[in-house]
Amino acid sequence: MVIALDGPAASGKGTLARLISDHYSFAYLDTGTLYRGVAWLVLKEGGDPADPALAAAAAQGYAIEKIAGADIRTKEVGAAASVVAANTAVRAALLDFQRRFSEKPPKGAKGAVLDGRDIGTVVCPDATVKFFVTASPEVRAHRRWLELVPARPGLEEAEIYQDLLERDARDAARDDAPMAAADDAELLDTTHLSIDAAFAAARRVIDGVFRRCG
Ligand code: CDP
Ligand code: CDP
Repeated sequence: MVIALDGPAASGKGTLARLISDHYSFAYLDTGTLYRGVAWLVLKEGGDPADPALAAAAAQGYAIEKIAGADIRTKEVGAAASVVAANTAVRAALLDFQRRFSEKPPKGAKGAVLDGRDIGTVVCPDATVKFFVTASPEVRAHRRWLELVPARPGLEEAEIYQDLLERDARDAARDDAPMAAADDAELLDTTHLSIDAAFAAARRVIDGVFRRCG
């Protein structure tokens, strides 16, 4: 059993993925952390995320221990992540790990939940259930601002809004595995949904598919 969640920044993918993984006892992989981790490694060395060889080397040598304790959630790392994510060598280096996680989830879990941009289209095209999670850019920017402002007082919501739009455009326009809804993905617009309501909607879809699968 594999559940795929894709969608733009701060649409609520990660929140849903975590709730789904707890509820169904599935293992969870936030694939954005891989791209953020690679970007952080490049930035740490003072490198340019747009340098193809530098980003590829960071992805090929990537290990979770290398980013232990790093703050990869900042908007600068997010922006750099979407630059390294357009690099085909970077995507290729990270693909096997994601596929293996979905095919053989750790700790004997009965299934896996993965969230990102290309899970339903490229990483797990045969996923049992696919969601494409969206929300209006204004709502997404407000949610992300609420998360980031405590650590950075004075951070403008308008800056986050601009940042998300640029990142979404780059993610949707790249040639390799662009952000896209799979043809068989369930669209979930969370603009006016609380976390509980979004989770209830996702559960209805998943339970329906599980019943049909027996
Ligand atoms: O993973 P993604 O970037 O798509 O978003 P997230 O990290 O799940 O959600 C971004 C923020 O929006 C979090 O602080 C969530 O608590 C919040 N959120 C919300 O207020 N309402 C929802 N329906 C979903 C998420
Ligand atoms: O949490 P948020 O939605 O802001 O971003 P994220 O999921 O942590 O992803 C950061 C960046 O990594 C995205 O803007 C994409 O450029 C890239 N990414 C990707 O290309 N493919 C994935 N499967 C996951 C993330």
